[in-house]
Amino acid sequence: MARILLGVSGGIAAYKALELVRLATAAGHTMRAVQTPTSTRFVGEASFAALTGAPVLIDEFQEDSWRGAFPGEESPAHRPLSHLQLVANADLFVIAPASANTIAKLTHGLADNLLTACALAAKCPIVVAPAMNNNMYESPAVQANLELLRARGIRIVDPETGRLASIGEQGVGRLAEPARLLSVCEDVLADPSVRAMPGAPPPSDAQRTGGGTNSARPQHDAGEWSGLRVLVTAGGTREPIDSVRFVGNSSSGRMGVALARAAHARGADVTLIAANVSLQPPEGVRTFAVKTARELMSACEEEFGRCDVLLMAAAVADFRPVQPLEGKVKKQGRERLRIELEPTCDVLRTLAAQRRSNQTLIGFAAEHGASGAEEARRKLEEKGLDAIVLNDIARADIGFESELNEVAIIARSGTQPVAKAPKSAVADAILDAVIELRNSA
Ligand SMILES: Cc1cc2nc3c(=O)[nH]c(=O)nc-3n(C[C@H](O)[C@H](O)[C@H](O)COP(=O)(O)O)c2cc1C
Repeated sequence: MARILLGVSGGIAAYKALELVRLATAAGHTMRAVQTPTSTRFVGEASFAALTGAPVLIDEFQEDSWRGAFPGEESPAHRPLSHLQLVANADLFVIAPASANTIAKLTHGLADNLLTACALAAKCPIVVAPAMNNNMYESPAVQANLELLRARGIRIVDPETGRLASIGEQGVGRLAEPARLLSVCEDVLADPSVRAMPGAPPPSDAQRTGGGTNSARPQHDAGEWSGLRVLVTAGGTREPIDSVRFVGNSSSGRMGVALARAAHARGADVTLIAANVSLQPPEGVRTFAVKTARELMSACEEEFGRCDVLLMAAAVADFRPVQPLEGKVKKQGRERLRIELEPTCDVLRTLAAQRRSNQTLIGFAAEHGASGAEEARRKLEEKGLDAIVLNDIARADIGFESELNEVAIIARSGTQPVAKAPKSAVADAILDAVIELRNSA
């Protein structure tokens, strides 16, 4: 897990940064926070100190009792300068919310407070999440500043559109939701090609490989994953009705991508079969794009024999149109359009029928409500799987298009609930369960 330095600048959305800390620490990251003096008018340092479990710094001349260390680490014997040490120790510096004022200072290299001095000294990747009134956000000055920061390799998390802080105001400028912010931070942490502030060298080899003190990789059971061949499927298949329409589902692929990223970070040799996934595939993972259940089936059959672990997170259509229509079907002249559907092949059942005893097969079941566990157990037995990860699609706050998930890992030996958390943390829990299953087989 990574060490994340959070920079909070002055704006109403500062309160949302507390939720970012809560989610990131729940996902296993350690955090320190620095605040601009103005931001403390919105949220006091005691809140960030309580949630990070570490002192919060506001002033460059303030003494850091931890001397730049992150939670769980020894403080050095000497007294380093905070604006240098905090960023030297961090794997990532996320500035959220980033005010228009702080964005302008970052763009022009000002270092007039601890946050901006940290940014200038940072060699780690920087993520900037603007939040402000829509007129401010759309102003040519802010847009030009953001463009410049982007061009320098800083990752900008675009704000969202909706209700703004001032009563009755709507528009673009709301801080990205904390779960999305965390997901972007984790993407950046997993992508060593991301550069830091201008003039900073690219990440060192130690950072690239996850070695050294700035490792973003989980250190647990790395040996058990090293060289393990993991096949992950992600996304949702689309079965054509005509040349532009399809029968599909709303799986975004986030869970599968999180699994692929986490397995790669642990040292596994990962192949990802991605069905209609628009997310950036994780760095270092062999990825194949597919569209239909048939394509997914043949890609899986090609890869399955070589894998040690199969994580079947893709949502595969159960039915497809028997005969896709030619061209784009026109509405004119038709009272009804009947589409006959036929069952698709059951990919997991087919693969399970060919399994070797030393392979571990994990299925995923998206079920509605209370009867879900029973249905998942039936699939576990019928398909001959080692475990099945169940999520309740009756809930709107988790699952398909959400950044969060809450699942139950159902194995023959029992059920392990995994509390609501970012998909990266859920992925880690699933991988831990895989190792337990392999060790107990
Ligand atoms: C009630 C209130 C809300 C504000 N909200 C924002 C905001 O959401 N975004 C922003 O860029 N500035 C906002 N400002 C203006 C900033 O606080 C101001 O530009 C300040 O200088 C920012 O300082 P900092 O960047 O050092 O934190 C707000 C000001 C007030 C009084």
